[in-house]
Amino acid sequence: MSQLKRKDAQQDKLSDLSRLLMTAAATASLYNPAHQLVRQLHRNAYNEIHLLFKEHEDITLKIIGDKLVFADKPVTKSAQTQRLTATLEKLGISFLKIKPGVTPEELLGLILNLGKSQGKQSSISNSEHIQYGKVEVRQQENQQLKLAEIAEIDAERVMDICRQARKRQKLEVDGIKEVVDGLVAAFSDKSDAFLAMAPLRAMDEYTYTHSTNVCILNLAQAKALGVEGQLLNDIGIAAMLHDIGKMFVPPEILAKPGKPTDEEWHILQQHPRMGAEYLLDTPGVPRLAVVTAYEHHMQYNNAGYPKSRHPWKVHLCSHMTAISDTYDAMRTRRPYEESLTQEKIMGIMKNLAGTKLHPQLTYSFLRLIIQLERNDHLLDSLGDGPQVH
Ligand SMILES: [Fe+2]
Ligand SMILES: [Fe+2]
Repeated sequence: MSQLKRKDAQQDKLSDLSRLLMTAAATASLYNPAHQLVRQLHRNAYNEIHLLFKEHEDITLKIIGDKLVFADKPVTKSAQTQRLTATLEKLGISFLKIKPGVTPEELLGLILNLGKSQGKQSSISNSEHIQYGKVEVRQQENQQLKLAEIAEIDAERVMDICRQARKRQKLEVDGIKEVVDGLVAAFSDKSDAFLAMAPLRAMDEYTYTHSTNVCILNLAQAKALGVEGQLLNDIGIAAMLHDIGKMFVPPEILAKPGKPTDEEWHILQQHPRMGAEYLLDTPGVPRLAVVTAYEHHMQYNNAGYPKSRHPWKVHLCSHMTAISDTYDAMRTRRPYEESLTQEKIMGIMKNLAGTKLHPQLTYSFLRLIIQLERNDHLLDSLGDGPQVH
């Protein structure tokens, strides 16, 4: 089959899949999920997905601008795909991935999610083989939505960078610098929009998305403190690379739900050292990134790791990264974890200020987050925080 014809055939399959999913969703919300028509459409959609799996490792749909993108190529618009795009947009989903092994139950979950009204979008959660990337949709703030899209594209690039590291290939520092430059430039005149990107969630790319989120949060913190120029970029690069050492931890340990065993914990604790060593060997990496990779789990009260036999002054950038890291780990939950409310996260972080986390930096960070989320009432309960002496 010629390439053009193959592309057309794929588009048709995707169009069919969109029609089956959307009709099933509409029927399920009109009648009920057990309706005979839903069952039939569900079965057909399941078969259609398996036809697509013959040509693709997974089915990844993204919404970029007003376009639906499948397998990294824009999909030619049809009434069916437009309906699906509009529904995903309404639900604040900009990224949908269906992986091989998807069960009929999981697919039914997707159908029911597509039938949800906008107000219920918060109840959409990932399953083992279906993942959603959500963007906080703020209707009147197209600017923020656009920025969130940039982050998702950048996340793809960061993923590539991480894959290179995993294979111990030469790290493309220029690529990371470009991503950070792009982020700095995109927000230079709209600092609160920085943070709008942070809640971006593409769960199975947890580590990669995490790096981008921590970068954005670090840039926001640094900007709030008046940092500009090369240092600002270096702080962003340091954040982007802080967990690069995790690429050398076996994936089954990283992905394991629940508490690691003592031995696994020991291996996990090596990631700062391994990351710093890797970055040290890479020309063009700012020294700050090496330092941050090494120090980001050294806590404010020196209780973290790696342990030092001598008194150690942790760099402010490492403190900032620890704060962004802690926040993102709570904000962006893995599929098997329950998500936490902002108030709860704030309470936890307040308790950590002065023990695990740098107190003044933590309070300044929390003020930023509260302002972004427009939860101004939380400002009172935050209080002034520790005074700088
Ligand atoms: Fe880490
Ligand atoms: Fe991290």
